[in-house]
This record gives sequence, C-alpha cells and structure tokens, in this order.
Amino acid sequence: MVMRALFAASGGRLEWRSAPRPQPAENEVLIRVHAAGVNRADLLQRRGYYPPPPGVTEILGLECAGIVERCGPAVVDVKPGDAVCALLAGGAYAEYCCVPADQILFVPSGRGFTEAAAVPEAVFTAWRNLVDVGGLRTDERVYINAAASGVGTAAVQIAVLCGAHVAASAGSPQKLKTCRELGAEFTINYREQDVAAELNRWTDGRGVNLALDMVGGEQFNTLLQSLSHAGRVVVIGLLGGRESKIDLARLLQRGITISSGTLRNAEAEVKARLAAQLRERFMPAWESGRYRPLVDRVFSIEQTNDAHEYMRAARNTGKIILQFDV
Ligand SMILES: NC(=O)c1ccc[n+]([C@@H]2O[C@H](COP(=O)([O-])OP(=O)(O)OC[C@H]3O[C@@H](n4cnc5c(N)ncnc54)[C@H](OP(=O)(O)O)[C@@H]3O)[C@@H](O)[C@H]2O)c1
Repeated sequence: MVMRALFAASGGRLEWRSAPRPQPAENEVLIRVHAAGVNRADLLQRRGYYPPPPGVTEILGLECAGIVERCGPAVVDVKPGDAVCALLAGGAYAEYCCVPADQILFVPSGRGFTEAAAVPEAVFTAWRNLVDVGGLRTDERVYINAAASGVGTAAVQIAVLCGAHVAASAGSPQKLKTCRELGAEFTINYREQDVAAELNRWTDGRGVNLALDMVGGEQFNTLLQSLSHAGRVVVIGLLGGRESKIDLARLLQRGITISSGTLRNAEAEVKARLAAQLRERFMPAWESGRYRPLVDRVFSIEQTNDAHEYMRAARNTGKIILQFDV
C-alpha cells in the first residue's frame, strides 16, 4: 500500500511523492496523521542543512497528532482508535507514520488534533533542556530567549509550572504580551533594549540561575554576562549564528556551566524516558488547562510552502500547524 508524503527536492523545493505506507515494528504504532507541527528544523532540512539521522525516513516532519491505526505485536497500553500525538525523528508530513509506542502522549479528551500537534516537539524540547539537562528548581530565575517561538512558548509555561520565575525576550511588543500572558514576569524587547542590563535590573545584579538559549551567535557572550554564580546555560538553537567569541574569565569567575541538547538525534531510550516523565508530570497540566498549547495559525498540508514562509519571516507566536484533509 502507498501513501502521499512530502519530501525535500532539489533547490529547497517541496515535492509530493508516493511512498510505501510504513509498517509498525514490534514496539511501534502506525498513526493516521491528522495534523503535523512545523519546526525550524523542517526549513533547514528542505534546504539540505539538517539531514535526518541514519536510518530515519527522508519524509519531512518531526511531530504529529492523529489516530492509532495499528499496533506492533509487543505494544501494550495503546490500541487502535486512540487519539495520540507523537515526537518523531522524521516522517510526519505524510498520511501515515510509525513511531515507538513509548514516544506518544494521549490527547486529552475534548482536545483537537491541531492543538495536540503543537505539543510534542515544543514540550519534549523544553522539558528536556529546562528540567533534565538544565536542572531547573523551584524559585530559580530563568531567562528564555526567542520566547515567542514554538519551543519558547512551551518553555515559558513549563518553567512557570516548575515554580520558577521567568524573564523572556522576543522581537515585538505583541510577542512579549503573549509571553506575559503565559506567565513570564519580566519581558525584554531584544531589538530595542539591552538584554544584559535588563536582566541585571530584574535580578538586582545577581544574574539568572538558568538560561535557555535558542539564539547563540554574538548574543551568547551577553548571555554569559547575565548568569549568576554557578549559573547554567543550555544551548538548544543557533538562530543568531553558530559562532561566538566568549569571555572565558567570566566562566571561571562565576563557575558557569554550559551544556546543550538536541532531541532529534537523542537515543530512543532518552525519548522514552522523557515521555514517561511528561505523562506523569506534564499531562495533568495540559488536561486541566494549566498548560495551553499555543497555536498561531493552521495551514492545510497543501499549503506547506506558505506555512514555511510564514515561519521563515518570524511572523508566528507559538506553533504553526499543518492540517490533513482526513
Ligand atoms: N535542540 C533541540 O532539540 C531543539 C528542538 C526544537 C527546536 N530547537 C530550536 O529552537 C529554536 C526555536 O524553534 P521553533 O521551531 O520553536 O522556532 P519558531 O517558532 O520559528 O520561532 C523562532 C523565533 O525566534 C526568534 N528569533 C530570535 N532571534 C532570531 C534570529 N537571529 N533569527 C531568526 N529568528 C530569531 C524570532 O522571533 P522574534 O520576532 O522574537 O525575533 C522567531 O520567530 C530554533 O533554534 C530551533 O532550532 C531545538
């Protein structure tokens, strides 16, 4: 059996092709995709800069929501007909995809697939890097840049759910307003304000305990100036560039730790462990409405090109979703 799927073609074009419908392995489920989330990584992959890890499909798309169609023989606790959303290493821009059962989350009752498709990549990434890698603790002060992005809007909320105090930066007053609505106590327009000076003001000169950095580039050294003693920074994106000149003395003086994390290349065991943590500690917040997946705009899957252009122009606050005509 075949299905329609979106691939990156030459020159960064998108191309619909027929592909074999995937078959679930022992521990996998086959999902009929109803909606897929758009990620910056998709824009890079179609231009040839972010190839899938070895053994992963070339079909674009890192997250989806839909209905379980079939389960592999070793799968327990998931059954055909379940509404789920899932983190994938690739393959969500297609009518069907397969994913290890331990990487899925169940969609709370009454929630739509477009909302559900906004959850996996943003929430797994934010949780892994704030909680798992970053070691976020109650009452700590956290700084999140690119905070109105898909990942950023999840990170602000997750930090707040963890009992932290959040400072967020973004590039427009409207984006900052949304960050405050999501729980950020302090916001900075990085285009108009001095980020280090503002964070210094917010922390009475003590610096932030943890920074989640999606920008890197030249701003990275500024970020180091804003960290407290024993402060930590977790680098998860390079929106501002891959190189930065840093003041190593600052690292030594303050005992700063720099770490990083990527999700796509993480081992299956890591993703399963994260999913287990999320089921226990995040799902109640989503179910009760304390966590709100932020969907900026829904495009038809046929308009994927327009959706990517919209993201490239940084017009979104929160997630952009592709909807399938099921
Ligand atoms: N490590 C991981 O596992 C992982 C997983 C997922 C995503 N990520 C990373 O997380 C970041 C956010 O991803 P996303 O899909 O959530 O992005 P997104 O929704 O497209 O948002 C990105 C936003 O970043 C802001 N930005 C700040 N500086 C920028 C710059 N120099 N160039 C372009 N945009 C800039 C822009 O908003 P303003 O108007 O505020 O400038 C833009 O809208 C990306 O760097 C992505 O690669 C990492």
